[in-house]
Amino acid sequence: MKSKELRERFLGFFEKKGHKIVPSSSLIPTDPSVLLTTAGMQQFKEYFLGKPSPYGKRAVSCQKCLRTSDIKAVGDESHLTFLEMLGNFSFAASAEASGEGGASYFKEEAIRLAFELVNSKFQIPNSKIIVTVFGGDKEVPRDNESVRIWEKFGFSEKKGNLTFTGRADNFWGPTGLEGPCGPTTEIYFGKVELWNLVFNEYYQDEKGKLSELEQKGVDTGMGLERLAMIVQDKNSVYETDLFSPIIEEIRVRGGTGEGQSLIREERIIADHIKSAVFLISEGIFPSNIERGYILRRLLRRALRFGKLINLPKNFLIPLAQKVIEIYRDVYPEVKSKETDVLTTIQNEEEKFEKTLEKGLKELNKLERIGRIERIGISGELKIFNRVNAKAAFDIYQSYGFPLEMIQEELAKRALLVDKKEFEKEFKEEFKKHQEISRAGAEKKFGGVGKEANYESAKLHTATHLLHAALRQILGNYVKQMGSDITSQRLRFDFSRAKKLTPEEIKKVEDLVNQKIKENLEVKKEEITYEEAISSGALAFFKEKYPARVTVYSIGDPSVPSGQVFSKEICAGPHVKRTSELGNFKIIKEESSGAGIRRIRAVLK
Ligand code: ALA
Repeated sequence: MKSKELRERFLGFFEKKGHKIVPSSSLIPTDPSVLLTTAGMQQFKEYFLGKPSPYGKRAVSCQKCLRTSDIKAVGDESHLTFLEMLGNFSFAASAEASGEGGASYFKEEAIRLAFELVNSKFQIPNSKIIVTVFGGDKEVPRDNESVRIWEKFGFSEKKGNLTFTGRADNFWGPTGLEGPCGPTTEIYFGKVELWNLVFNEYYQDEKGKLSELEQKGVDTGMGLERLAMIVQDKNSVYETDLFSPIIEEIRVRGGTGEGQSLIREERIIADHIKSAVFLISEGIFPSNIERGYILRRLLRRALRFGKLINLPKNFLIPLAQKVIEIYRDVYPEVKSKETDVLTTIQNEEEKFEKTLEKGLKELNKLERIGRIERIGISGELKIFNRVNAKAAFDIYQSYGFPLEMIQEELAKRALLVDKKEFEKEFKEEFKKHQEISRAGAEKKFGGVGKEANYESAKLHTATHLLHAALRQILGNYVKQMGSDITSQRLRFDFSRAKKLTPEEIKKVEDLVNQKIKENLEVKKEEITYEEAISSGALAFFKEKYPARVTVYSIGDPSVPSGQVFSKEICAGPHVKRTSELGNFKIIKEESSGAGIRRIRAVLK
């Protein structure tokens, strides 16, 4: 069974059982407390907390997920950063609801459905299956109900095919800072965890405190790659049809060659390039912060492992093309964003090559700080060499070396003494750096004359109009990467791989001028960060926001506030009405680094 069929069978099975098929949501979640979508339930989080689900009580999906929590384990048989999670969901069940048709259900039905699918539809023999159940702890009791249900299907502790585990293994959630969570029961094939059935019975608040949910829910997750590995009878996920074209391509170009068993480096490269393609196809570009940093880290790790097994220059490009071939029918965005994907990867490789050499030289030059310590019971004196974290941070800043790479390189040179201490100091440097940039920005706008202030407010408002226009004309992938205002002009950096065409520039300019003519109102409100994000306000991810933020919306006051042209978290200042801006003109469009374009514009 090919992966395509596995996906379809899973969705079809649950559709027949009254579940609505819901398409995968974006890898970029709406929940501001999480950076990336890591589970199928992410898009349904609110429906477990009482908000009515537009899909009814039962849903099923195949969700694109990206997790870096397992990045160190990638390279074994079954761990991945990008995965497709197959899951069925039931919202708002009362504890005893069994549910038929479109009604919600709970443990009984969830386990019955999962077992039926695994056993009869995917023909995984009972003898290969082991299940785990939550064994209970101080806060949450042992899940005896699940035990009772599993016994009906021939699983019990006595028979040795049911085991109990604790909080770390059989309790899931919440995603982000707070949310639904609960005990799980998991289906294993041999040693590989295949399917996780979560019973959302609790709500965990930001402090980690659990309270019982009034309405219980079911959230399940099964990795398509692992399912394929089992059904296709392979030794690892990398040998399934979801990976084999990428692996073959690695071997055509170098690697260990055909017929040899797969090595860790090959697997890591295959995993990371896949994640990178999906991230770029969602409008993310390499940078030193947040999602952009995740992407940069994945690409640079892939490049480094490629070097280790002697893959030639630009080897990631044909691999990315294989990823696109595998997924183009299921996730069309990988194909429609192909140019962005390939250019971004190529740019990042070039950037990395250039900086690698220079950075390593700098690293060799770092000043060594000797430290003498007494060790052991005898109190023997020993000299440790280490480098100062500030100097290492400068290398991260200037050369974009990922932290772990700096650590590895330092370790090679016997210069990394205490990893924890180094990480702590490194983070402090990072914080200091952010504070300096912020202070710089405040200084720039403080203490200027009234007139200059008004000019700056106009350019500020124009910047918001430009941002919204770029997103409307080019697509919602456009993200602000930076901006700057002088008394004369505005400068705006945003994520985008290709140069803008003259037509695109004209369209953007026209749209901004049209919005100026419409004399829209600029409305200011102060709300919580969460409210701002959930109402669709754009945030500039370089900043860390306080709990309450100022949001500026630009729109026609007579239409509902959901339909404003622009909405952004911003400290201001802004003008009251767009007509005050006069005429908007783009004077220059240029590159500002890999995957970033820069626009300069004036008001006349
Ligand atoms: N949300 C559960 C998981 O991610 C199913 O494992």
